[in-house]
Amino acid sequence: QVSAQILAFFTVARRLAAQRKEIDAVLEPFLLSPETLREVKNKMRTELEYGLKRETQGSATVKMLPTYVCGTPDGTEKGKFLALDLGGTNFRVLLVKIRSGRRKSVRMYNKIFAIPLEIMQGTGEELFDHIVHCIADFLEYMGIKGARLPLGFTFSFPCKQASIDKGTLVGWTKGFKATDCEGEDVVDMLREAIKRRNEFDLDIVAVVNDTVGTMMTCGYEDPNCEIGLIAGTGSNVCYMEDMKNIEIVEGNEGKMCINTEWGGFGDNGCIDNIRTEYDKEVDEGSLNPGKQRYEKMTSGMYLGEIVRQILIDLTKRGLLFRGQISESLRKRGIFETKFLSQIESDRLALLQVRQILQQLGLDSTCEDSIIVKEVCGAVSRRAAQLCGAGLAAIVEKKRENRGVEHLQITVGVDGTLYKLHPHFSRVLQETVKELAPWCDVTFMLSEDGSGKGAALITAVAKRLRNIDKYLYAMRLSDETLIDIMARFRREMKNGLSRDFNPTATVKMLPTFVRSIPDGSEKGDFIALDLGGSYFRILRVKVSHEKKQTVQMESEIYNTPEDIMHGSGTRLFDHVAECLGDFMEKQQIKDKKLPVGFTFSFPCRQSKLDEGVLITWTKRFKASGVEGADVVKLLNRAIKKRGDYDADIMAVVNDTVGTMMTCGFDDQRCEVGLIIGTGTNACYMEEMRHIDLVEGDEGRMCINTEWGAFGDDGSLEDIRTEFDREIDRGSLNPGKQLFEKMVSGLYMGELVRLILVKMAKEGLLFEGRITPELLTKGKFETKHVSAIEKSKEGLSKAKDILTRLGVEPSHEDCVAVQHVCTIVSFRSANLVAATLGAILCQLRDNKGVGRLRTTVGVDGSLYKMHPQYARRLHKTTRRLVPDSDVRFLLSESGSGKGAAMVTAVAYRLMSSSQTQLCTCVAINTLGHLLGIMGPELQHAAALGHLTV
Ligand code: BG6
Ligand code: BG6
Ligand code: GLC
Ligand code: GLC
Repeated sequence: QVSAQILAFFTVARRLAAQRKEIDAVLEPFLLSPETLREVKNKMRTELEYGLKRETQGSATVKMLPTYVCGTPDGTEKGKFLALDLGGTNFRVLLVKIRSGRRKSVRMYNKIFAIPLEIMQGTGEELFDHIVHCIADFLEYMGIKGARLPLGFTFSFPCKQASIDKGTLVGWTKGFKATDCEGEDVVDMLREAIKRRNEFDLDIVAVVNDTVGTMMTCGYEDPNCEIGLIAGTGSNVCYMEDMKNIEIVEGNEGKMCINTEWGGFGDNGCIDNIRTEYDKEVDEGSLNPGKQRYEKMTSGMYLGEIVRQILIDLTKRGLLFRGQISESLRKRGIFETKFLSQIESDRLALLQVRQILQQLGLDSTCEDSIIVKEVCGAVSRRAAQLCGAGLAAIVEKKRENRGVEHLQITVGVDGTLYKLHPHFSRVLQETVKELAPWCDVTFMLSEDGSGKGAALITAVAKRLRNIDKYLYAMRLSDETLIDIMARFRREMKNGLSRDFNPTATVKMLPTFVRSIPDGSEKGDFIALDLGGSYFRILRVKVSHEKKQTVQMESEIYNTPEDIMHGSGTRLFDHVAECLGDFMEKQQIKDKKLPVGFTFSFPCRQSKLDEGVLITWTKRFKASGVEGADVVKLLNRAIKKRGDYDADIMAVVNDTVGTMMTCGFDDQRCEVGLIIGTGTNACYMEEMRHIDLVEGDEGRMCINTEWGAFGDDGSLEDIRTEFDREIDRGSLNPGKQLFEKMVSGLYMGELVRLILVKMAKEGLLFEGRITPELLTKGKFETKHVSAIEKSKEGLSKAKDILTRLGVEPSHEDCVAVQHVCTIVSFRSANLVAATLGAILCQLRDNKGVGRLRTTVGVDGSLYKMHPQYARRLHKTTRRLVPDSDVRFLLSESGSGKGAAMVTAVAYRLMSSSQTQLCTCVAINTLGHLLGIMGPELQHAAALGHLTV
């Protein structure tokens, strides 16, 4: 009897051992080794990079969607908002009241509504009508139907966004599959449904993913929270990425939150090595087969399904439920996350597990319940580990971005799986710790759901939108720019024509400079450079051994404001005095060196060494100079001193000097552009188009004086109240209106005026205005440049604003940066339009299909502003697509160019009269006979050709 018992015992033991082995074999693929997890982390890392790069983004499985959320909360958000929260287990409508300041607080009221399955998978119209129906119910319930509240829409599905209030659904995930929604803007769909109902109106300000909402909810409590994780029905992460790494979004400044949509990780098969037969089964039975493979291994909606597939298999193998697959076990979705969580609870006795299984219609033995619990454990453990591996990749990326060895960061988390499951959060955290040992990660549970975060985003977005609305007129579309280009082309034509020139606003002044340097210039010259940020005197020695070389020495002299605004005599006495000092220092007081005078103001010229000032511009307003020849005035001042002599051979505009400087290095240079204190351009025009100068052959440089564009009212449609205010406060009201929208002397002030107005309206600095902020000139263009710097821009903004006495919040800094960008972008766009007109003129003059040319550029704004040059180049190329334009920065100022002009003039003067006559005769004869090409004619005219 004993031996029979022993035998029976051994039989059972053997059966159990065989059973055990089989169960272990089934569950074995769910055990992931540390190496496998590390591999998953690395693959995720690679996919994150693919999603961020323009080239690979299209085919990336982790889509890395820009969210247009550019900062975490800072406590200054306030207002009353509605929020919708759609896509998780519950659909919620909320009213969120946010108070800022010392008593900052958030109060929320919400109601949960059901979304029946037939609506989740019906038509898009039905779905959105249902949503609006629930909103109506909520508004009624709260008694706020009449208030047109701003609304933040948490929509927990992948959306492509081009702004915070637009979101095109990429594809449904999880349990939704309503028709006619994919590829559509969900904000539009919601708006239309509101219109259809025609009962109330809402201002939809922002659409956000639940990960983003969660990050913001937690970020409100902990400023270090820069990652949002959802482990719920679905699985996803967002995080704050550096703008410079987000190739598909313009701009390099600051950060933007990226919704990774990591649920799609593995859709290219890259984690197929760890997918089991059960995962494939679950995928095939889902609403979106082949998609969201990682989500299907990690999130609440699918874990129960994986368990069910395993249980079916084990039953089929006779290892469970006495080999009987019951009706209940055949039902998809019976294992919801909450049941999974309950079954795995350590506190639950086996009997209770059996009761739960009973509730689900699964009649189990004690043994069965142990196995079921084990299966659940394997599946949920793998999910938590995979999720941890993914999160480790994100955390590592953040560490690299910050360039630190040790990263401290907070992850805001939400989702039923994370919240309810007894082990998920612990395993997840352990995995992150193991795979990202250099990161100290705090996990913060979102207690209030993502609705609070959505409301916070809405508060910020509403503020930025107000700024945008405010500055709407400053954003110029390409259509407008093309129109401005055409207007400027007409102005150029008027300025060049004899009949229209007297009344033309853009004066198109002939400069008597006929070509760029040809390499034969030489000599010892002095150049004066007056009218930009600095008054400079230079000595330029051009020598000609083997190769032409230029040696320069220069000195900067102060020009105090009382001299710029005093009498003309005093101004020129000052110039003469500085020149004397310079010659003294150079020990050339006894020499009579030829002088080139860069005088950066509009002058009428009838020859090279004469310049009648038409009007002062920029900072200068000395009396008695307008209408006079500045060469004569300077000569007079020098004579009066009597301690040295000078020979002023040429007066040139700074644009011309710049073109000549750049022309020295690049023979193709035929445009000179200044974007500094003032703005202006010159270019080489065909003589036959210049009515005001005799002769039709060759070319002459025209100083456009485009700063005056708009002085006849032709730019009124794009000028703003701020432009008018700048003009009223300037030295020359009503004049140089284009210049005042563009150049450095005015840009900082423009920004200041905007900031003052915004502060007055409570849009900035909580409405605080300080005396410094109200002081003209306190905000300078160099501050605009600093604030727009990519890395330290926001901290610069903080410093600069703090110095103005306001205590800026982070959001204030973001807003001020936004204002700066709009103002400086407008400037670059306007210059692109006027420059575009010049390029078109050159292209037409040459009669070529495609223009190849070089533009010489100078000026502090162009040089110092971190984004200006790039934006200008880009817009110019867009506006004049049939051109290859090289922008060449003038490194050595316009003095060198002025010396080149002087060299030619000097040689012309010193060559004998007869020689000159001969040349002129040959030139004329050449024309008559048509035997001389333009190069020879030009050489003859300049006296380079002697007989
Ligand atoms: C909620 C958030 O708390 O969690 C939702 O408010 C989010 O926005 C949800 O979608 C995610 O969890 P689950 O488990 O409901 O999908
Ligand atoms: C300098 C030139 O480099 O740039 C000047 O030498 C010119 O002639 C000036 O006027 C323009 O820039 P800004 O910023 O000094 O007005
Ligand atoms: C799905 C959605 C994603 C969401 C996540 C969590 O993965 O695609 O947008 O964040 O579920 O709810
Ligand atoms: C002003 C002057 C112009 C000069 C420009 C740049 O517009 O009128 O002559 O070229 O500033 O300095």
